[in-house]
Amino acid sequence: MKLEVTLRHLNQGDYEDVRDYVCNPEVAKYLTWQVYTQEKDVRDYFNKSLPKIACPDEVLGIEYQGKMIGTVHLILRQGNFIQMGFGITPHLWGQGIGTKTLVVILSHIQNTEWSKISKEIWADIHQNNIYAAKTLEKGGFILQKPGVELNRNRFTLKIA
Ligand SMILES: CC(C)(COP(=O)(O)OP(=O)(O)OC[C@H]1O[C@@H](n2cnc3c(N)ncnc32)[C@H](O)[C@@H]1OP(=O)(O)O)[C@@H](O)C(=O)NCCC(=O)NCCS
Repeated sequence: MKLEVTLRHLNQGDYEDVRDYVCNPEVAKYLTWQVYTQEKDVRDYFNKSLPKIACPDEVLGIEYQGKMIGTVHLILRQGNFIQMGFGITPHLWGQGIGTKTLVVILSHIQNTEWSKISKEIWADIHQNNIYAAKTLEKGGFILQKPGVELNRNRFTLKIA
């Protein structure tokens, strides 16, 4: 069993873990999706995530201790910016796993095609999301555009 945080693409066997995560109202209140209450909506999210396996549109599962504990979305935006969003299941919050996950995400970007295409990463988070703001700042992101959208702040990181 892997004790560290790793990223990998999702496969059919991850469905139950991903379901637990995307149906959790604590996660959904900070992300851009509503909490999924219908099985067909979870299946739709999962099926749409499966084929996204490389730049310019990628969804990765976050694996920790043999379980998928969350997902990472990387999207290439106009102007060659990478929009990054990730989350982990709430019962693991506050144990340093988010900080470790961000390090692994940045390393993934640096070591793949993403880094050849883009030199800047964005993360847009809810203004009240202090845990995410703290996690991003610990990873080197800076608050660049407060209020970029209603109730959302944009944090950015330039990569070498
Ligand atoms: C943002 C998120 C990934 C952070 O994950 P996490 O595992 O809790 O993060 P960490 O434990 O590494 O904590 C990072 C910082 O957040 C703060 N924090 C996290 N949980 C906290 C808690 N329960 N109480 C107080 N501060 C807390 C701390 O300041 C911590 O920094 P420190 O270790 O220097 O004190 C997690 O809260 C999450 O999945 N949120 C929902 C999705 C989301 O908001 N995504 C946006 C990211 S783009």
